[in-house]
Amino acid sequence: MKVSEALHTRKTVRAFKTDPVSAETLKVILETAARSPSGGNLQPWRVHVLLGDARNELVRRVAEKRKTSPMGETPEYHIYPPELTEPYKSRRFRIGEAMYATMGIPREDKMARLKFFSGNWEFFGAPAGLIFTMDRQMQQGQWADLGMYMQSIMLLAREHGLHTCPQEAWAVHHSVIREYLEVPANEIVFCGMAIGHADDTAPVNSLISERAPIAEYVTWRQSA
Ligand SMILES: Cc1cc2nc3c(=O)[nH]c(=O)nc-3n(C[C@H](O)[C@H](O)[C@H](O)COP(=O)(O)O)c2cc1C
Repeated sequence: MKVSEALHTRKTVRAFKTDPVSAETLKVILETAARSPSGGNLQPWRVHVLLGDARNELVRRVAEKRKTSPMGETPEYHIYPPELTEPYKSRRFRIGEAMYATMGIPREDKMARLKFFSGNWEFFGAPAGLIFTMDRQMQQGQWADLGMYMQSIMLLAREHGLHTCPQEAWAVHHSVIREYLEVPANEIVFCGMAIGHADDTAPVNSLISERAPIAEYVTWRQSA
């Protein structure tokens, strides 16, 4: 598979089949993703791989927590800037509307939207889940490194016929995750990622997110 093919076919999948993903496949993906660059070669990422009962137990614990705290707790970092400005605010709004439109869920139907969103905490049915953490001493540069590492995983997943959903939604359950996975206090729970086989019959997976034309953010300088 060409890199461009992996990039063009990667998309956020929000409905997975139950077909298993083997530990061997994930190991190959993680060993290859380890070639991702990082400033100073710090390799600041840390990953928990959850399969089988281990995956189910995290899902169970979060479901239990949601009985008293349906939307989780305040994340340890700002998932979005508190005062998001344009054009980012509109982009965020549009992708949400486009996603719920694939399932015919209108804006007013908050319950249906919440029900769908809560699928995040079941890895949207994927049999494999990853949780990414990082030492708190790390700065903006290392967050970028972690993002590159995650992108490597998502592209490599395509090579193995798999799809992914990166999930900051898990950040609102950092305490449950911390306790269950024994994440030390000096590490921040950044996000999760569902990995599995896409359910192509699910309407939500028909979503192809739009992109701004590169002219909106690329500045060219070709002569003085
Ligand atoms: C770090 C990160 C966290 C994300 N968290 C979530 C999430 O919690 N739930 C979700 O459904 N999508 C999540 N997404 C997916 C984005 O909404 C998606 O990447 C974006 O809308 C572009 O769509 P595409 O990935 O299909 O190209 C996340 C993406 C990234 C990069």
